[in-house]
Amino acid sequence: MRIVLVGPPGAGKGTQAALLAKTLSIPHVSTGDLFRANISQGTELGLAAKSIMESGKLVPDEVTIGMAKDRLAQPDAAGGFLLDGFPRNVAQAAALDEILAEWGIELDGVLDLEVPEDEVVRRIAGRRVCRNDNAHIFHVEYHPPVAEGVCDECGGQLYQRADDAEDKVRVRLEVYHTETEPIIEYYQKQDLVTTISALGTVDEVTRRAIEALRKNETQRKNDDEG
Ligand code: AP5
Ligand code: MG
Repeated sequence: MRIVLVGPPGAGKGTQAALLAKTLSIPHVSTGDLFRANISQGTELGLAAKSIMESGKLVPDEVTIGMAKDRLAQPDAAGGFLLDGFPRNVAQAAALDEILAEWGIELDGVLDLEVPEDEVVRRIAGRRVCRNDNAHIFHVEYHPPVAEGVCDECGGQLYQRADDAEDKVRVRLEVYHTETEPIIEYYQKQDLVTTISALGTVDEVTRRAIEALRKNETQRKNDDEG
């Protein structure tokens, strides 16, 4: 399956993507995590992205699209992928369509996670992520680690992302509404979007997501046959 996850900052994309990727046996590709890995490794790309990410704005398309294309070209993504945080504007969505067309493949679905803004703010305020692997995500209240400040998965140190400060979250939400939300309409025109509520426990949301993806897969098969 080739899936795009969309939703506001703090919706739970990273949390769900990690679980869905395991269930569906496809890699979780997060452009945010790729940027953060580049920042901790001190690469040129990381240096270019760092201050922009910390401001809450989007890294320029030419940098982001190239990085996403390189990642999707890796052998483990040949059988499918779960994209988290990419595409993030209509230009990136159009570029992704072009890349996939060049490779003779297409998206199977776009899963839109819907969460009210006050819940998003609560989720981001309590989030802690692992320094070793940004994909290990915790929450001080909703999903606390066994030992405070220590990652359950790998023992790494937990930290609060610089862009999770309240003023940066406001910028990110604004950017989401103006730049990212229009991709939902873009994909609706291709009949790819399923919207689910991302409220409730992590497990409840995962169940809802799997059900939506399976339903979408069956429908696409029926459409192809019919
Ligand atoms: P990115 O890393 O993609 O951040 P984001 O989209 O703002 O989303 P978040 O990672 O903040 O939230 P999430 O939805 O993954 O939620 P999570 O699962 O952690 O991007 C960061 C920056 O990188 C961008 O601002 C930009 O600068 C740059 N960038 C990235 N991609 C780019 C692109 N394509 N183009 C240009 N620039 C790009 O969950 C949040 C919290 O809630 C956690 O604490 C979690 O434990 C908790 N939680 C999750 N689910 C539940 C639940 N059901 N109940 C209770 N708590 C829950
Ligand atoms: Mg994330």
